[in-house]
Amino acid sequence: MVKTTDIILGVIAKDLKKSPSDALVVGVAQGADGPVLLPNPLSAKAAESIAGSLKVLGITGAADQVHRLPGLPETGSELLVLAGLGKPQADGSFTGEALRRAAGSAVRQLAGLASVTLAFPTTALADVAAVAEGAALGAYSYTEHRSSKDGLKAPVAKVSIFTAVDAKEAQPALDRAIVLARAVNATRTLVNQPPSHLFPESFAEAAKELSKGLPVKVTVWDEKRLEKEGFGGILGVGKGSARQPRLVKVEYAPAKAARKIALVGKGITFDTGGISIKPALGMGDMKSDMAGAAVVLNAVLAIASLGLPIKATAWLCIAENMPSGAAQRPADVLTVYGGKTVEVLNTDAEGRLVMADGIVAASEEKPDAIIDVATLTGAQLIALGLRTAGVMGTDSVTSALKSAADRAGELVWPMPLPEELRPSLDSQVADLANIGERNGGMMTAAAFLREFVGKNGNGEQIPWAHVDIAGPSFNNGSPYGYTPKQGTGCTVRTLVAYAEDLLTASA
Ligand code: BES
Ligand code: MN
Ligand code: ZN
Repeated sequence: MVKTTDIILGVIAKDLKKSPSDALVVGVAQGADGPVLLPNPLSAKAAESIAGSLKVLGITGAADQVHRLPGLPETGSELLVLAGLGKPQADGSFTGEALRRAAGSAVRQLAGLASVTLAFPTTALADVAAVAEGAALGAYSYTEHRSSKDGLKAPVAKVSIFTAVDAKEAQPALDRAIVLARAVNATRTLVNQPPSHLFPESFAEAAKELSKGLPVKVTVWDEKRLEKEGFGGILGVGKGSARQPRLVKVEYAPAKAARKIALVGKGITFDTGGISIKPALGMGDMKSDMAGAAVVLNAVLAIASLGLPIKATAWLCIAENMPSGAAQRPADVLTVYGGKTVEVLNTDAEGRLVMADGIVAASEEKPDAIIDVATLTGAQLIALGLRTAGVMGTDSVTSALKSAADRAGELVWPMPLPEELRPSLDSQVADLANIGERNGGMMTAAAFLREFVGKNGNGEQIPWAHVDIAGPSFNNGSPYGYTPKQGTGCTVRTLVAYAEDLLTASA
């Protein structure tokens, strides 16, 4: 089961008591001289008294701080909650992402309550959109495999946003927030699924289930069809597993499409490393090695839900990387879809093998751009840390992705793709080896993938970008803002924003 329940979102402009909720949440900024109670719907008297008590209550206004107080009779809520927004910008306002995180953090930490009213400073529609997104992203939990729900707190089901922005004007932003959160939360749930339950066949089934009711076409390649058509990368990686690999194509092709994009995702449902086996410590986290495929699937489903006039196709390259008597060996040579040969010198560099098949297949349809998303390298974590995705490829695509990510409130950073890395991938026996220069390994992996990007009608390489989400796709630390533990769903919002931006660019 990968479908999550949508939160109910609404706006209210006055009369808190007429639409009471379990908690009223008011913002606190981390000002230069201490905490500052932000504009709120409380009576002047009540606001003054609370503002005067912030310091003694230990409230600083730092992000993620959520402080519960008894509700005031004038609000109709049993709880009054003070939530930190962190440091304001120079003009005293907050970025969209600060609002998104504060809303998400409050809703996340107030799990167990049924309804919450968020009264953060929202002067413009964009602020309301950010609060709505944060709230919907914060209302998430993964409890599928608990035999008892005792002691588990259900996510907040209903959030009202207190704002002067007109309700009619706000509605499309609320609807968009729901679509985004549905896609991000479904991605998180797929990532959180244990590998006992999510394997290539069940992942393909989940893709079909999530696509139900949407104007998309789903095609699944089983092992026989993969064999027949020569998808040697996906088959090679999947060889060691008792569970057969899959390729899944999810196409959204509206009639009046201005542009056509292809998204390719790494879907390793579990990465043991194969014969080049990984150490035991932390191996369990490799259930998240299918995050890229979950991201591209849900990005296309969100684009379809929003009805954007753009063709978007997701290619999910799905296999389980296991050691066994049937597994591929270091030094094996495989033939990627389309004919290029690869010497597999390390079976743990499997992501690039399945992605090579997917990128060649995506190229055949000559899209305007190909974006691939993958938990590809440990080197990504070394280079950019746990929260920032690396993006490499054609400048036009990487810079468009960077600005889309900025708008969406996600962290991505462009990295170079130096030519000198390519010879490090030379093989003694095949066209290419699957490992090369270790230093800058994230870029070496991207240099490998670039070899498989096809040409467009003009004989030029199709504009392409590779996004390495090894770090940011899985949160091993504490939850923060709207981000839970484990699957984060990162990059879905960036891809949707990228698609939206293409429309304004081509208008
Ligand atoms: N799935 C891993 C990369 C990874 C590491 C993702 C840590 C998330 C967290 C990938 O398949 C892998 O094993 N890559 C190797 C490549 C190496 C053998 C060239 C790596 O990064 O060590
Ligand atoms: Mn690996
Ligand atoms: Zn992997």
